[in-house]
Amino acid sequence: MLRRLYHDQPETFAFTPDNLKWAQAQMKKFPEGRQASAIIPILWRAQEQEGWLTRPAIEYVAAMLDLAYIRALEVASFYFMFQLQPVGAVAHIQVCGTLSCMICGAEDLIGVCKDKIADKPHALSADGKFSWEEVECLGSCANAPMAQIGKDYYEDLTTERLSEIIDELAAGRVPTPGPQNGRFAAEPLKGLTSLRDYDSGKTKYNASAQLAADIGDTVKRIDGTEVPFLAPWVKDSAATKPKSKTPAKAKPAAKKPAAAKPKAKPAAETAPAAATESQPETLKTARAGGADDLKKISGVGPKLEGVLNDLGFYHFDQIAKWTTDEIAWVDSRLKFKGRIERDDWIGQATALAKAS
Ligand code: FES
Repeated sequence: MLRRLYHDQPETFAFTPDNLKWAQAQMKKFPEGRQASAIIPILWRAQEQEGWLTRPAIEYVAAMLDLAYIRALEVASFYFMFQLQPVGAVAHIQVCGTLSCMICGAEDLIGVCKDKIADKPHALSADGKFSWEEVECLGSCANAPMAQIGKDYYEDLTTERLSEIIDELAAGRVPTPGPQNGRFAAEPLKGLTSLRDYDSGKTKYNASAQLAADIGDTVKRIDGTEVPFLAPWVKDSAATKPKSKTPAKAKPAAKKPAAAKPKAKPAAETAPAAATESQPETLKTARAGGADDLKKISGVGPKLEGVLNDLGFYHFDQIAKWTTDEIAWVDSRLKFKGRIERDDWIGQATALAKAS
Protein backbone atom coordinates (compact mmCIF):
# COMPACT_ATOMS: atom_id res chain seq x y z
CA MET A 1 0.00 0.00 0.00
CA LEU A 2 1.36 3.39 -0.97
CA ARG A 3 1.48 5.76 1.95
CA ARG A 4 1.42 9.35 0.86
CA LEU A 5 0.62 12.62 2.59
CA TYR A 6 -3.01 13.64 2.23
CA HIS A 7 -3.61 16.05 -0.64
CA ASP A 8 -5.37 18.66 1.49
CA GLN A 9 -3.38 19.81 4.50
CA PRO A 10 -4.08 22.34 7.26
CA GLU A 11 -1.91 25.43 7.36
CA THR A 12 -0.25 24.97 10.74
CA PHE A 13 0.26 22.71 13.69
CA ALA A 14 1.17 23.47 17.27
CA PHE A 15 1.08 21.32 20.39
CA THR A 16 -1.19 22.43 23.18
CA PRO A 17 0.95 23.89 26.00
CA ASP A 18 0.50 20.72 28.06
CA ASN A 19 1.33 18.44 25.16
CA LEU A 20 4.40 20.55 24.46
CA LYS A 21 5.54 20.04 28.05
CA TRP A 22 4.91 16.33 27.70
CA ALA A 23 6.89 16.14 24.45
CA GLN A 24 9.79 18.06 25.98
CA ALA A 25 9.77 15.63 28.90
CA GLN A 26 10.05 12.72 26.43
CA MET A 27 13.14 14.36 24.92
CA LYS A 28 14.76 14.45 28.35
CA LYS A 29 14.69 10.65 28.54
CA PHE A 30 17.55 10.47 26.05
CA PRO A 31 21.19 11.59 26.35
CA GLU A 32 22.08 15.01 25.03
CA GLY A 33 22.29 14.89 21.24
CA ARG A 34 20.03 11.82 21.00
CA GLN A 35 16.71 13.62 21.27
CA ALA A 36 15.69 12.30 17.84
CA SER A 37 15.07 8.96 19.57
CA ALA A 38 11.86 10.48 20.94
CA ILE A 39 10.36 10.81 17.48
CA ILE A 40 7.81 8.00 17.66
CA PRO A 41 6.10 8.99 20.93
CA ILE A 42 6.10 12.65 19.90
CA LEU A 43 4.64 11.95 16.45
CA TRP A 44 2.10 9.72 18.17
CA ARG A 45 1.20 12.52 20.57
CA ALA A 46 0.69 14.86 17.62
CA GLN A 47 -1.63 12.28 16.07
CA GLU A 48 -3.54 11.87 19.31
CA GLN A 49 -4.03 15.62 19.51
CA GLU A 50 -5.24 16.05 15.94
CA GLY A 51 -6.66 12.62 15.10
CA TRP A 52 -4.25 12.18 12.17
CA LEU A 53 -0.72 13.19 11.22
CA THR A 54 -0.62 16.29 9.09
CA ARG A 55 2.37 17.56 7.14
CA PRO A 56 2.66 20.66 9.40
CA ALA A 57 2.71 18.32 12.41
CA ILE A 58 5.53 16.22 10.91
CA GLU A 59 7.46 19.40 10.10
CA TYR A 60 6.87 20.71 13.62
CA VAL A 61 8.13 17.50 15.25
CA ALA A 62 11.16 17.42 12.92
CA ALA A 63 12.01 21.02 13.92
CA MET A 64 11.53 20.17 17.58
CA LEU A 65 13.97 17.25 17.37
CA ASP A 66 16.42 19.10 15.15
CA LEU A 67 15.88 16.55 12.39
CA ALA A 68 15.65 16.98 8.63
CA TYR A 69 11.99 16.91 7.60
CA ILE A 70 12.61 13.85 5.38
CA ARG A 71 13.78 11.84 8.43
CA ALA A 72 10.53 12.53 10.27
CA LEU A 73 8.52 11.82 7.12
CA GLU A 74 10.30 8.47 6.72
CA VAL A 75 9.16 7.42 10.19
CA ALA A 76 5.62 8.74 9.74
CA SER A 77 5.15 7.04 6.38
CA PHE A 78 6.78 3.74 7.42
CA TYR A 79 4.60 2.85 10.39
CA PHE A 80 0.98 2.05 9.63
CA MET A 81 -0.06 3.23 13.09
CA PHE A 82 0.39 6.76 11.82
CA GLN A 83 -2.69 7.95 9.97
CA LEU A 84 -1.69 10.16 7.07
CA GLN A 85 -5.22 11.15 6.17
CA PRO A 86 -8.16 12.50 8.20
CA VAL A 87 -9.92 9.92 10.35
CA GLY A 88 -13.38 9.97 11.91
CA ALA A 89 -13.83 12.82 14.39
CA VAL A 90 -15.19 10.36 16.97
CA ALA A 91 -13.42 7.08 16.14
CA HIS A 92 -11.24 5.24 13.66
CA ILE A 93 -12.02 1.51 13.80
CA GLN A 94 -9.21 -0.95 13.02
CA VAL A 95 -10.60 -4.41 12.33
CA CYS A 96 -8.12 -7.27 12.51
CA GLY A 97 -8.38 -9.36 9.34
CA THR A 98 -5.65 -11.92 10.07
CA LEU A 99 -6.10 -15.68 10.43
CA SER A 100 -7.80 -16.21 13.82
CA CYS A 101 -10.04 -13.21 13.38
CA MET A 102 -10.81 -14.09 9.76
CA ILE A 103 -11.85 -17.62 10.76
CA CYS A 104 -14.03 -16.20 13.55
CA GLY A 105 -15.88 -13.62 11.46
CA ALA A 106 -13.66 -10.61 10.68
CA GLU A 107 -15.10 -10.35 7.19
CA ASP A 108 -18.59 -9.92 8.67
CA LEU A 109 -17.24 -7.19 10.97
CA ILE A 110 -15.78 -5.43 7.93
CA GLY A 111 -19.23 -5.74 6.34
CA VAL A 112 -20.67 -3.82 9.33
CA CYS A 113 -18.06 -1.09 8.81
CA LYS A 114 -18.91 -0.90 5.12
CA ASP A 115 -22.63 -0.66 5.89
CA LYS A 116 -22.45 1.80 8.76
CA ILE A 117 -19.36 3.88 7.98
CA ALA A 118 -18.15 3.89 4.40
CA ASP A 119 -17.78 1.46 1.54
CA LYS A 120 -14.02 1.90 1.38
CA PRO A 121 -11.40 1.82 4.15
CA HIS A 122 -9.92 5.18 5.19
CA ALA A 123 -13.00 7.03 3.88
CA LEU A 124 -14.98 9.17 6.31
CA SER A 125 -18.59 8.39 7.14
CA ALA A 126 -21.15 10.84 5.77
CA ASP A 127 -21.25 12.71 9.11
CA GLY A 128 -17.45 12.68 9.42
CA LYS A 129 -17.60 10.87 12.76
CA PHE A 130 -16.15 7.50 11.76
CA SER A 131 -13.63 5.80 9.52
CA TRP A 132 -12.30 2.23 9.42
CA GLU A 133 -9.56 0.03 8.03
CA GLU A 134 -8.49 -3.61 8.06
CA VAL A 135 -5.24 -4.24 9.93
CA GLU A 136 -2.89 -7.16 10.50
CA CYS A 137 -2.91 -9.30 13.66
CA LEU A 138 -3.17 -7.15 16.77
CA GLY A 139 -2.02 -9.93 19.07
CA SER A 140 -5.40 -10.65 20.60
CA CYS A 141 -6.02 -13.84 18.65
CA ALA A 142 -7.46 -15.70 21.66
CA ASN A 143 -10.27 -13.15 21.67
CA ALA A 144 -10.97 -13.21 17.95
CA PRO A 145 -12.60 -11.54 16.17
CA MET A 146 -11.60 -8.15 17.46
CA ALA A 147 -11.07 -4.52 16.56
CA GLN A 148 -8.96 -1.71 17.98
CA ILE A 149 -10.75 1.58 18.53
CA GLY A 150 -8.52 4.42 19.66
CA LYS A 151 -6.08 2.77 22.02
CA ASP A 152 -8.36 0.00 23.22
CA TYR A 153 -9.31 -3.47 22.09
CA TYR A 154 -12.90 -4.61 21.65
CA GLU A 155 -12.75 -8.38 21.59
CA ASP A 156 -14.98 -11.41 21.07
CA LEU A 157 -17.06 -9.28 18.75
CA THR A 158 -20.17 -10.18 16.83
CA THR A 159 -21.65 -8.16 14.02
CA GLU A 160 -24.50 -7.11 16.32
CA ARG A 161 -22.14 -5.97 19.08
CA LEU A 162 -19.87 -4.02 16.72
CA SER A 163 -22.92 -2.33 15.27
CA GLU A 164 -24.08 -1.39 18.78
CA ILE A 165 -20.61 -0.12 19.68
CA ILE A 166 -20.64 2.21 16.67
CA ASP A 167 -24.10 3.44 17.66
CA GLU A 168 -22.97 4.03 21.25
CA LEU A 169 -19.92 5.99 20.12
CA ALA A 170 -22.08 8.04 17.75
CA ALA A 171 -24.35 8.87 20.70
CA GLY A 172 -21.36 10.18 22.67
CA ARG A 173 -20.87 7.20 24.95
CA VAL A 174 -17.67 5.16 25.44
CA PRO A 175 -18.49 1.45 25.40
CA THR A 176 -16.39 -0.57 27.84
CA PRO A 177 -13.53 -2.17 25.95
CA GLY A 178 -12.29 -5.73 26.40
CA PRO A 179 -14.14 -8.96 25.70
CA GLN A 180 -17.71 -8.33 24.64
CA ASN A 181 -19.06 -11.80 25.41
CA GLY A 182 -18.73 -11.76 29.19
CA ARG A 183 -15.22 -13.16 29.36
CA PHE A 184 -12.89 -11.46 31.84
CA ALA A 185 -9.84 -11.77 29.60
CA ALA A 186 -8.79 -14.71 27.41
CA GLU A 187 -9.72 -17.49 29.84
CA PRO A 188 -11.75 -20.50 28.71
CA LEU A 189 -15.34 -19.56 28.00
CA LYS A 190 -16.58 -22.13 30.51
CA GLY A 191 -14.64 -20.49 33.33
CA LEU A 192 -11.18 -20.27 34.86
CA THR A 193 -9.29 -23.29 36.03
CA SER A 194 -6.33 -21.23 37.29
CA LEU A 195 -5.38 -17.57 37.97
CA ARG A 196 -8.68 -17.02 39.78
CA ASP A 197 -7.64 -13.93 41.78
CA TYR A 198 -9.85 -11.61 39.78
CA ASP A 199 -13.05 -13.01 41.24
CA SER A 200 -11.96 -11.62 44.61
CA GLY A 201 -13.94 -8.59 43.44
CA LYS A 202 -11.05 -6.14 43.38
CA THR A 203 -11.82 -5.01 39.86
CA LYS A 204 -14.88 -5.14 37.71
CA TYR A 205 -13.06 -5.64 34.40
CA ASN A 206 -9.67 -6.96 33.38
CA ALA A 207 -6.69 -4.65 34.00
CA SER A 208 -6.55 -2.83 30.66
CA ALA A 209 -10.33 -2.51 30.37
CA GLN A 210 -10.51 -1.27 34.00
CA LEU A 211 -7.89 1.40 33.31
CA ALA A 212 -9.72 2.54 30.20
CA ALA A 213 -13.01 2.68 32.12
CA ASP A 214 -11.38 4.62 34.98
CA ILE A 215 -9.92 7.34 32.78
CA GLY A 216 -12.72 7.36 30.18
CA ASP A 217 -10.22 6.44 27.51
CA THR A 218 -10.54 4.82 24.06
CA VAL A 219 -11.52 7.74 21.87
CA LYS A 220 -10.28 10.52 24.12
CA ARG A 221 -8.26 13.07 22.21
CA ILE A 222 -5.01 13.42 24.16
CA ASP A 223 -4.68 17.05 25.25
CA GLY A 224 -2.04 16.86 27.96
CA THR A 225 -4.29 16.92 31.03
CA GLU A 226 -3.32 13.27 31.60
CA VAL A 227 0.32 14.19 32.19
CA PRO A 228 0.44 13.38 35.93
CA PHE A 229 -1.18 10.05 35.18
CA LEU A 230 0.70 8.98 32.07
CA ALA A 231 4.03 10.71 32.71
CA PRO A 232 4.58 10.97 36.48
CA TRP A 233 8.21 12.00 35.93
CA VAL A 234 7.01 15.29 34.46
CA LYS A 235 5.95 16.63 37.84
CA ASP A 236 9.43 16.97 39.28
CA SER A 237 11.31 17.45 36.05
CA ALA A 238 12.35 20.77 34.60
CA ALA A 239 9.57 20.22 32.10
CA THR A 240 7.39 22.55 34.11
CA LYS A 241 9.76 25.30 32.98
CA PRO A 242 10.67 23.99 29.55
CA LYS A 243 13.98 25.12 28.17
CA SER A 244 14.11 22.76 25.23
CA LYS A 245 13.78 24.00 21.73
CA THR A 246 10.33 25.15 20.86
CA PRO A 247 9.77 25.01 17.13
CA ALA A 248 9.43 28.41 15.53
CA LYS A 249 6.02 27.46 14.27
CA ALA A 250 4.69 27.26 17.81
CA LYS A 251 4.91 31.06 18.04
CA PRO A 252 2.11 32.08 15.69
CA ALA A 253 -0.25 29.89 17.66
CA ALA A 254 0.70 31.74 20.84
CA LYS A 255 -0.60 35.01 19.38
CA LYS A 256 -4.00 33.50 18.95
CA PRO A 257 -6.45 33.50 21.80
CA ALA A 258 -5.91 30.76 24.31
CA ALA A 259 -7.84 27.68 23.33
CA ALA A 260 -10.53 26.62 25.72
CA LYS A 261 -9.12 24.77 28.72
CA PRO A 262 -8.85 21.10 27.81
CA LYS A 263 -11.57 19.08 29.37
CA ALA A 264 -10.79 15.99 31.35
CA LYS A 265 -13.91 14.30 30.08
CA PRO A 266 -13.53 11.81 27.24
CA ALA A 267 -13.92 13.35 23.81
CA ALA A 268 -16.69 10.92 23.10
CA GLU A 269 -18.68 12.39 25.98
CA THR A 270 -18.36 15.80 24.49
CA ALA A 271 -18.88 14.67 20.92
CA PRO A 272 -21.90 16.37 19.45
CA ALA A 273 -25.06 14.39 19.55
CA ALA A 274 -26.55 13.87 16.11
CA ALA A 275 -27.61 17.40 15.21
CA THR A 276 -29.96 18.62 12.58
CA GLU A 277 -28.54 21.26 10.31
CA SER A 278 -29.70 24.82 10.29
CA GLN A 279 -28.20 27.57 8.15
CA PRO A 280 -26.78 30.42 10.22
CA GLU A 281 -27.36 34.03 9.25
CA THR A 282 -24.90 34.90 6.49
CA LEU A 283 -23.77 38.12 4.80
CA LYS A 284 -23.27 38.83 1.12
CA THR A 285 -20.20 40.92 1.88
CA ALA A 286 -18.29 42.11 4.90
CA ARG A 287 -19.77 45.03 6.85
CA ALA A 288 -18.42 48.54 6.40
CA GLY A 289 -15.02 48.59 8.06
CA GLY A 290 -13.97 45.36 6.43
CA ALA A 291 -13.89 41.70 7.31
CA ASP A 292 -12.29 40.40 10.50
CA ASP A 293 -9.11 38.39 10.15
CA LEU A 294 -10.65 34.95 10.72
CA LYS A 295 -7.16 33.44 10.60
CA LYS A 296 -6.78 34.65 14.17
CA ILE A 297 -8.94 31.67 15.13
CA SER A 298 -6.60 28.79 15.86
CA GLY A 299 -7.23 26.10 13.23
CA VAL A 300 -8.32 28.55 10.53
CA GLY A 301 -5.75 29.16 7.80
CA PRO A 302 -6.08 31.17 4.58
CA LYS A 303 -7.90 28.36 2.76
CA LEU A 304 -10.48 27.87 5.49
CA GLU A 305 -10.92 31.62 5.79
CA GLY A 306 -11.73 31.73 2.06
CA VAL A 307 -14.27 28.93 2.47
CA LEU A 308 -15.90 30.74 5.40
CA ASN A 309 -16.07 34.00 3.43
CA ASP A 310 -17.63 32.13 0.49
CA LEU A 311 -20.26 30.75 2.88
CA GLY A 312 -21.05 34.29 4.05
CA PHE A 313 -19.02 34.57 7.28
CA TYR A 314 -16.74 37.57 7.64
CA HIS A 315 -16.90 38.53 11.31
CA PHE A 316 -16.02 36.97 14.67
CA ASP A 317 -19.43 37.85 16.10
CA GLN A 318 -21.15 35.82 13.36
CA ILE A 319 -19.19 32.71 14.34
CA ALA A 320 -19.61 33.37 18.06
CA LYS A 321 -23.41 33.09 17.63
CA TRP A 322 -23.51 29.68 15.93
CA THR A 323 -25.82 27.20 17.63
CA THR A 324 -25.27 23.43 17.63
CA ASP A 325 -27.47 22.99 14.55
CA GLU A 326 -25.71 25.85 12.81
CA ILE A 327 -22.31 24.33 13.63
CA ALA A 328 -23.56 21.12 12.01
CA TRP A 329 -24.54 23.11 8.89
CA VAL A 330 -21.11 24.75 8.61
CA ASP A 331 -19.29 21.54 9.56
CA SER A 332 -20.91 19.64 6.71
CA ARG A 333 -19.48 22.22 4.30
CA LEU A 334 -15.90 22.04 5.58
CA LYS A 335 -13.39 19.42 4.60
CA PHE A 336 -12.14 18.79 8.12
CA LYS A 337 -15.27 17.85 9.96
CA GLY A 338 -15.33 18.23 13.71
CA ARG A 339 -12.69 20.97 13.84
CA ILE A 340 -15.14 23.68 14.90
CA GLU A 341 -15.80 22.00 18.20
CA ARG A 342 -12.40 20.39 18.62
CA ASP A 343 -10.66 23.77 18.27
CA ASP A 344 -13.44 25.65 20.08
CA TRP A 345 -14.05 28.18 17.34
CA ILE A 346 -17.07 29.54 19.19
CA GLY A 347 -15.07 30.30 22.34
CA GLN A 348 -12.22 31.78 20.33
CA ALA A 349 -14.54 33.89 18.16
CA THR A 350 -16.39 35.14 21.24
CA ALA A 351 -13.11 36.28 22.81
CA LEU A 352 -11.93 37.87 19.57
CA ALA A 353 -15.27 39.65 19.03
CA LYS A 354 -15.06 41.12 22.55
CA ALA A 355 -11.47 42.23 22.01
CA SER A 356 -12.15 43.94 18.67
S1 FES B 1 -5.56 -12.72 14.23
FE1 FES B 1 -6.73 -11.05 14.95
S2 FES B 1 -5.70 -10.45 16.74
FE2 FES B 1 -4.41 -12.03 15.92
